[in-house]
Amino acid sequence: MSANETPAGQPPTATYDSAFLKACRREPVPHTPVWFMRQAGRSLPEYHKVREGIAMLDSCTRPELVAEITLQPVRRHDVDAAIYFSDIVVPLKAIGVDLDIKPGVGPVVAQPIRTRADLAQLRALEPEDVSYVTEAIGLLTRELGPTPLIGFAGAPFTLASYLVEGGPSRTYENAKAMMYGDPELWADLLDRLADITAAFLKVQIEAGASAVQLFDSWAGALAPLDYRRSVLPASAKVFDAVAGYGVPRIHFGVGTGELLGLMGEAGADVVGVDWRVPLDEAVRRVGPGKALQGNLDPTVLFAGPRVVETKAREVLDSAAGLEGHVFNLGHGVMPSTDPDSLTRLVEYVHTQTAR
Ligand code: CP3
Repeated sequence: MSANETPAGQPPTATYDSAFLKACRREPVPHTPVWFMRQAGRSLPEYHKVREGIAMLDSCTRPELVAEITLQPVRRHDVDAAIYFSDIVVPLKAIGVDLDIKPGVGPVVAQPIRTRADLAQLRALEPEDVSYVTEAIGLLTRELGPTPLIGFAGAPFTLASYLVEGGPSRTYENAKAMMYGDPELWADLLDRLADITAAFLKVQIEAGASAVQLFDSWAGALAPLDYRRSVLPASAKVFDAVAGYGVPRIHFGVGTGELLGLMGEAGADVVGVDWRVPLDEAVRRVGPGKALQGNLDPTVLFAGPRVVETKAREVLDSAAGLEGHVFNLGHGVMPSTDPDSLTRLVEYVHTQTAR
């Protein structure tokens, strides 16, 4: 049983009753919950301090360090949820894919996947491959008390974009060439990634994560028809695989205005929206029965406290008619963001929405 599940006949736990999980379930909330994508990490001096001399992917395999970094933004900002500190490529590394995260660049893969033979790099993920995740989440759920922990994984398309390109790309030309030119190989690649991703999310939920987010950060590069045909089935398989746990499932991408309806169809409970589409329009595109998460432009945080409040107010106003709203940025916190501006933003949203 997962940490936030309420067994039949038992009173709900404080975690189950948190504002964040209530908003995900579209229940009335005491205040609009807030957390930030990339809230743990380079915007915090205390993060730089504990990471000194430790490579990014090594840091992800040390349970005490992971727990400390995950807790840092919770202590500092009073956010309504913690997000497990890791990276989308961690499960790939754990099954033996030769890759690294290069500072200032991102994930780089030694042997990009371009042929059917290359698929052999992707064996199934077993819970023992990521025992450090189970251990870190055990530490975290004890430390966090009622604050929910969000587990996460990269969606099959976004993982495939790194694996096929061999690194970050603006055009995804190799990945899309495979998608258009060899649809069978592409489907098999995404299907394997869906199984790995589902297994990785299950490990996190069984260890105590109260919600999960699937990051399909680069899905916005796709036309709706191609997304529906070549990507949606794999993401839907992931959401299906974890549906039985009853924890909220969040689906996020950037530049996905034209895909919001399809992302809703893929099966998540909460759809993340970037800053390009206002939430009152996003809810029309996503359709009924889903909460929304978002969507302040992360660059607004560089414009000074008055502007942050004005722009945050606009987000809250456009969310006024939603059944469930989780306040977040439209994408991750940028590394040079002043952390105090994030603390003030959390306080602003909490006081403006206190019921
Ligand atoms: O607080 C949190 O949100 C959890 C931390 C988190 C990291 N990566 C830590 C990290 C999360 C949720 C991710 C997910 C991730 N990783 C995504 C999806 C989210 C998004 O932003 O769209 C993607 C596309 C990646 C791949 C990746 N990993 C990139 C593009 C980079 C940045 C490269 C750079 O140096 O600019 C990474 C590295 C990474 N992941 C860092 C952190 C804190 C920076 C590395 C460091 O601190 O040394």
